[in-house]
Amino acid sequence: MAYTVPKLKEFSPAALEKAAEKLLSALEAEASAVQDEAAYKTFRDHWMGRKNGVLTQLNDLWLKAAPKDAKRDAGQRVNQLKGRVEQAIDATLQRLQGGASDARLAAERVDITLPGNQRKIGAEHPVIKTMHEIISVFRNLGYSVEEGPVIESDYYNFEALNFPPNHPARDTQDTLFIANQDAKPARERLLLRTHTSPVQIRTMEKLAPPLRIVIPGKVHRNDPPDASHSPMFHQIEGLAVDTDITFGDLKGTIDHAMKALFGSSVKTHFRPSFFPFTEPSAEVMVSCFICGGSGKRGSEPCRPCKQSGWIEILGCGMVDPNVFEFVKHNGYDPKKVSGFAFGMGIDRVAILKYGVDDIQLFFQGDVRFLQQFR
Ligand code: DAH
Repeated sequence: MAYTVPKLKEFSPAALEKAAEKLLSALEAEASAVQDEAAYKTFRDHWMGRKNGVLTQLNDLWLKAAPKDAKRDAGQRVNQLKGRVEQAIDATLQRLQGGASDARLAAERVDITLPGNQRKIGAEHPVIKTMHEIISVFRNLGYSVEEGPVIESDYYNFEALNFPPNHPARDTQDTLFIANQDAKPARERLLLRTHTSPVQIRTMEKLAPPLRIVIPGKVHRNDPPDASHSPMFHQIEGLAVDTDITFGDLKGTIDHAMKALFGSSVKTHFRPSFFPFTEPSAEVMVSCFICGGSGKRGSEPCRPCKQSGWIEILGCGMVDPNVFEFVKHNGYDPKKVSGFAFGMGIDRVAILKYGVDDIQLFFQGDVRFLQQFR
């Protein structure tokens, strides 16, 4: 039963004291019974409601009704009780709110006994892995890494590499051209770079000699996809320029790199070739590291080297003086500097290293294939 304010028959201090005690014990009992917000509102309105709340009634029944000589005492009492009622109401509200946030905290608590989220660790793509291996061989020789754009201009991809306009050597690189470039001068027309060689020129424009760099990256050619061709593939280019670089330096560097990549027992073989940007030029063969150069695996023919015992692995040569002419202004006077360059297909090396029989597998994103390289 909610508390109601009694009319007082007497206003003596003892009578007031007794009435106040009853009120306070009712207050305490009602306050502690409040367990939710609705009950709190009822409780608050019962005690403080303006029209007919306990405090209003105290004013009427205990203060206004008190005879003159008891007014002072009654007034003090009523004031004191007002304070106690307000306190009790505040405390009740706080208890409710505290309880709510305790409940929220309890609900949010992390259960450290639950099993964690397992994130599977991915595998480095075999082409990227091979690229990093090749780069690290050259880093150990003091080379640094440079990169350049995949969408390239005719000037960097061809002209400054000594492919004159309409030269038949351009036909060996089945180029994918960017559309709607006809309004531009020929050298500014854009294409997908067919090799990483344009970054040779871009780097020599930027950095004065001496220079030792490798350039990994994507290249594109208009080749229909099959087991050994992809319109997009990867190359790594090398370039060393200094005051007296010789073909001997080229041979020594390539021979070392091939042994570091394929094993110390492989042999290298240089065969004359042609590239517009190198003179002389060579193709490098490595002895087949699968059959050991015999051309046979047991009684079967060795497929990767087509039974020849040799695998063609890269193109190289001494930088053509005509190429240096394009960057002469940056310290590359062909009378003063010389250099060698080389370029190899990364995907092909990965195919050989991992015994993959179809280049398309590298680009299909099938996790069952890629997981094997973890
Ligand atoms: N750029 C040539 C290609 O894609 C490869 C190459 C050959 C790069 C000889 C060189 C080099 O730097 O000297 O076929």
